[in-house]
Amino acid sequence: MRRSFIREILEHTNSETISFAGGLPDVSLFPHKALQIATYNALENAESLQYGTSTGYTSLKEQIAEYYCQRGFPTAPENILITSGSQQGLDIICRYHYGASVTIEKPSYLGALNVFKLNSMETTTVPLTEDGIELKSFEKSIAKSKLAYLIPDFQNPSGRYYTDKTRENVAKILEDSQKILIEDAPYSELYFDAPHKSISQMLSKQSYHLGSFSKVLSPALRVGWIRADVELLKPLIAYKEAMDLHTSGITQRIVSEYLKDGESFEKHLQTLRVAYKEKMNYFCKQLELHLPNFEYTQPKGGMFIYGKFNGVDSRALVQECLKNGVVFVPGIEFGGADDEIRFNFTHSNFDEITEGLKRIKSVMDLTNL
Ligand SMILES: Cc1ncc(COP(=O)(O)O)c(C=O)c1O
Repeated sequence: MRRSFIREILEHTNSETISFAGGLPDVSLFPHKALQIATYNALENAESLQYGTSTGYTSLKEQIAEYYCQRGFPTAPENILITSGSQQGLDIICRYHYGASVTIEKPSYLGALNVFKLNSMETTTVPLTEDGIELKSFEKSIAKSKLAYLIPDFQNPSGRYYTDKTRENVAKILEDSQKILIEDAPYSELYFDAPHKSISQMLSKQSYHLGSFSKVLSPALRVGWIRADVELLKPLIAYKEAMDLHTSGITQRIVSEYLKDGESFEKHLQTLRVAYKEKMNYFCKQLELHLPNFEYTQPKGGMFIYGKFNGVDSRALVQECLKNGVVFVPGIEFGGADDEIRFNFTHSNFDEITEGLKRIKSVMDLTNL
């Protein structure tokens, strides 16, 4: 097992380092005051300090189920298993499917690649196109796999999203082949223009839909969930129990208190969408200005800009950049090509974005990389 480059790099950066590396939200946009009030309210009830049930806090499961119903995906609280972040959701599913074969996107989320490795799962990669996963290769690959792990909304790391047509085609392929989908959707609410129907919605008996409050509320809460058919969900509960008995009751109740005023959450999501779109546009403008050789596709949501400096070894580049106070993740860490790079555009402020990209430019000029 190799450590995650991002987790490791976070330990080697200091307060002067400008980081485009982690998938970190903008701290200034956390609904800090509202969460402070929600915490106070949660602690008004001493039951918040007690052990809880393994599947999660009932009120929160009801609120998440309602969220799905509002989006046209019929869901009951029994379809929800609360997890300690969606990372644990994926781990639970993979422990249950230990040793199974799984079709994944190329590139894919590093945290997932490590979970697959830990659970002795054999992965087969399928490239992403501008429209989402490449369908012919996906159909071939899934015929030999038990599961598919896909991130259709503003994928990590590529920023790509699946068109409605691709989603329908993927659902059809999975339905015909009777294979199971793990749909990881932490960025689905961070769209800049319009939301998309989940693939799981077209495949409710054959899918695990992973959700999380990390990117839309706060990652420190460590509250995520698995949405699945009751028959698929039932066997996972024993794994959750063995891993940590249950997700923190306090943070579940904080989220639940916060969500009680549904309008505030909706407003907060809208604030994030507008602010992140503005940051993404700014990042792209600064790229054009300082690093015009960077080839990329502008994302339509999420937190990442993915692309390449044609022929440049991005691992060598990041080592030099680290010495000069700026960091990003080389695409190879996600199974991408040697010259690919992922930039996170949400965490840094506007001045840091400009300064960070200027630092990369000066490193490239000085080192001839
Ligand atoms: C695709 C994807 N899945 C899962 C996670 C883990 O999120 P959580 O904080 O909910 O565990 C991340 C975090 O970056 C992610 O990008």
